Amino acid sequence: MDAAPPPPPSPSPSPSRAPFAAHVVVCHGTSCTERGQGLPARELRNALFEGGLQGAVRVTKATCLNLCNLAPNCVVYGAGPTDAAPAGGAWYAGLTPSKVRRIVDEHLKGGRPVADLLVRWDHPDVAT
Ligand code: FES
Repeated sequence: MDAAPPPPPSPSPSPSRAPFAAHVVVCHGTSCTERGQGLPARELRNALFEGGLQGAVRVTKATCLNLCNLAPNCVVYGAGPTDAAPAGGAWYAGLTPSKVRRIVDEHLKGGRPVADLLVRWDHPDVAT
């Protein structure tokens, strides 16, 4: 008599929360920290909290996004329709508190990258 087949593997545990709607990677490297004096990251935290997005948007720190000449920088992934954002994420440079507010309002809330704030990859300072 044949043995019973082994049971199927257990499914991965389900997360106990909704998936994040977007992911923001904020650079905390030396150039970004010194030039921004921590203000863009602080503004992002405040704007997400004030907009009720703190549970929907994951924020992580990067050690360097390799665009130090344009610091301070961040990248937004996954906000809005997939056809609205560049496939490699929406890269924002030269952040100021007011630019961060626009990114939160227009991109993370509104679903559209802030076109005039996106990194221009043909900019001479982008070349390393
Ligand atoms: S330190 Fe931020 S891009 Fe290099």
